[in-house]
Amino acid sequence: MKLFVDTGNLKEIEALAALGILDGVTTNPSLLAKEGGDSRRILREICRLVQGPVSAEVVATDTAGMIREGRDLAGIDPHIVVKVPFTKDGVKACKALASEGTRVNVTLVFSATQAWLAAKARASYVSPFVGRLDDIGATGMNLIREIVDIFDNFEFPTQVLVASVRNPVHVVEAARMGADVVTVPAAVIEQCFKHPLTDIGLERFLKDWEKAQAAKV
Ligand code: E4P
Repeated sequence: MKLFVDTGNLKEIEALAALGILDGVTTNPSLLAKEGGDSRRILREICRLVQGPVSAEVVATDTAGMIREGRDLAGIDPHIVVKVPFTKDGVKACKALASEGTRVNVTLVFSATQAWLAAKARASYVSPFVGRLDDIGATGMNLIREIVDIFDNFEFPTQVLVASVRNPVHVVEAARMGADVVTVPAAVIEQCFKHPLTDIGLERFLKDWEKAQAAKV
């Protein structure tokens, strides 16, 4: 399963890229708005740091506008994947952009039928939002199981990109279900690294080693 980070923050991306475990990045208008500044420059810099797929979202809501913006975003760097919302206009824009060879991530997916329709429109990725489903009392991860099953049945090349991830349990479940990609906020990636027994274990190993060295003197 590929790991993307869900952020527009260059410092976070730089630190994760340096670890050698990062496959790509997803951004959205809210995340880029939080960073301020020139979003084209930020996207270009993210692509340079990651050298993998970087999702950049259109803000137009009509098909023609989405195609125009999508072409413009795709022109920033070959690593850009154009993100469009799941609407009828978004589906039309997805099909058109995909026909031109642009990779498209269909976002704001909340049902299996939406994911199936996006795959039919030749999306490279669909982004089901598990955390936002959990927020309204549903079980977001059930949607991932449904989509993975459907895509496997018909051998759709569209990748399942698990989004709106809130905790490491989402990450583990996504991997067990066979999702292609998980996009994770930097704080949750940090939680994935941590285990108190690792820290305690390392401290004990080092103390024992020091004791043995001191006894030799
Ligand atoms: C995905 O591409 C979105 O940017 C993101 O995962 C949304 O997550 P949120 O529900 O935490 O805003």
